[in-house]
Amino acid sequence: MRMKTRIETSEIVVGLDIGTTKVTAVVGEVDSDGITILGVGNVPCRGLRKGVVSNIDWTVRAISEAIEAAQTMAGVEIRTVYAGVAGSHIRCQSSDGVAAIAGGEVTRNDVDRVLEGARAIPVDADRQILHALPREFVVDNQDGIRDPVGMSGVRLGVKVNLVTAATSCVQNVVRCAERCSLIVADVVLEPLASAEAVLSEDEKEIGVAVIDIGGGTTDLLIYVDGGIAHASVIPVGGNNITADISAGLRTPMAEAERIKRNFGCALGRMVGDEEEIEVPGVGGHSPRKVARRVLSDIIEPRVEEIFAVLRKRIEDTGMLEQLSAGVVLTGGAVLLDGMTEFAEEILGMPVRLGLPVGVRGITQLVAGPQYATGVGLVQYGAAALIQARERSAAQAPAHTRPELRKTAVRERAQSAVEAEDISIERQKSGRFWNWLRAAF
Ligand SMILES: Nc1ncnc2c1ncn2[C@@H]1O[C@H](COP(=O)(O)OP(=O)(O)OP(=O)(O)O)[C@@H](O)[C@H]1O
Ligand SMILES: [Mg+2]
Repeated sequence: MRMKTRIETSEIVVGLDIGTTKVTAVVGEVDSDGITILGVGNVPCRGLRKGVVSNIDWTVRAISEAIEAAQTMAGVEIRTVYAGVAGSHIRCQSSDGVAAIAGGEVTRNDVDRVLEGARAIPVDADRQILHALPREFVVDNQDGIRDPVGMSGVRLGVKVNLVTAATSCVQNVVRCAERCSLIVADVVLEPLASAEAVLSEDEKEIGVAVIDIGGGTTDLLIYVDGGIAHASVIPVGGNNITADISAGLRTPMAEAERIKRNFGCALGRMVGDEEEIEVPGVGGHSPRKVARRVLSDIIEPRVEEIFAVLRKRIEDTGMLEQLSAGVVLTGGAVLLDGMTEFAEEILGMPVRLGLPVGVRGITQLVAGPQYATGVGLVQYGAAALIQARERSAAQAPAHTRPELRKTAVRERAQSAVEAEDISIERQKSGRFWNWLRAAF
C-alpha cells in the first residue's frame, strides 16, 4: 500500500473500540491544529458478551477487518492502537499519594511520582490497576488543585480514583489485538474514552454524569469539580431490549433488532394509539400487524429498569446533588426515540444526547453516539502522546528544547480559546486547545 507522507510533527493515533455488537477502528492524525479523523473501520462482532471477550477467534476476525478497512481509508499503516475495555468486572476505589517536590516547583515528573505512589496499594491477585484518575492535588496545605505543574511548594499530595479490572479480561483484549499484529499502547476504560469525546470542560467542572448505553453494557462515569469521582459498568444494554422484543413479539433476534431501530420508542405515551407495524413470524408463520404501542410497552419496562439502576448507583455515590450539568447520554442504544425524555423523568435532572465532538476530518462517519468510545480513544491517545512529548522535552538539554514551537502553540491556543465563535468547528478546536494548553 502507498503511504501518505506526513509532516514531521504529526502523529497517527488509532482508537480500537471492541464493543459487544461491533468493532470500530478510528484513525486520527494529531498535529498542532488538533485531531483529524482520516479513516474509520466498523465491523459487526459477536465475539463479546456483556462487554467481555467470550470468543477470541470471532473477535480477532472483526478486529482485523475493522483495522484493514480503517487503514485502507486512511492510507496509513496501523501498528499501534489504544484499546477500550469495559464489563462489570470494572471497579473503582479511592487512594492517595504524597511525594516531595524535588526542585521547589512541581514538574510533570513529580506528578508522575505522586501518582505512582497512589497506585502502590494491594489489589487482588487476579486484578490490575487500569487508571489512577486524579480527583485533586494538594500542594503543601492548598487543596483542590487540578493541575499542579509549575506551582511552588515542598510537598505534593494527590487523591485519586483507582480503576481496577479483571486481569484476564484485559489480557484477552490485548491478546486479540496482538493476534492481529497490533501493539496495544494502552488499555482504556471505555466510558473514560466516551466522556473525552462528548463532554465539555464546563460540564466536568460543574458536575456531570456520562452514561454510555451500548449493546451489552451500560457505563457510568461521574465528574465532580473537574475530576472523575466514580466509574462503574452495569451488564445491561440495548441487546436486552432486543431480546425482550424478540420474546414479546415472537420474532427472530435480527428482526427484533430491525423493528427496534425502525419503530422502537422508549416511552409508550409518545406513540399514537392507531400506529401499526408489521412483524415477520418465526418458523413459517405469516407476518402480522401489531400496534406500535405494544412494541413500546415491551421496551419501556427495560429502559425504566436501566435508568432506575443508574439512579440508584448515582444516589449510592452520594453525588446526585452535585451533578449541576445533569446527565449526558451516549452509546448506540440512546438512538431509541424517547430515551432522553425518559431519562429526565427517572433521573430527575437535565439530560442531553452526547455526540462525539472535538475532531475534524471525515466526522460524518463517526457522528453517531455509538462512535463516542472510538473517537474518545483517539483523543485519549492524543493527550497521552502530548504528555509523553512534554516529558521528553523536559528531559532534553535546554538548547534542544522546542521552546519556540511551544510558544507558538500557546499563542495559537490562546487566540483559538478567546475567539467567541459558536460554530461547531471552532467550539471543537477551542476544546482541543484548552486541553492542549492544560497539557503544556
Ligand atoms: N437507531 C437505533 N435505535 C435503537 N437502538 C439502536 C439504534 N442503533 C443502534 N442501536 C442499539 O445500540 C446498541 C449498540 O450500541 P453500541 O454500538 O454503542 O454498543 P457496543 O459498543 O457494541 O457495545 P458495548 O459498549 O455495550 O460493549 C445495540 O443494542 C443496538 O441495537
Ligand atoms: Mg461501546
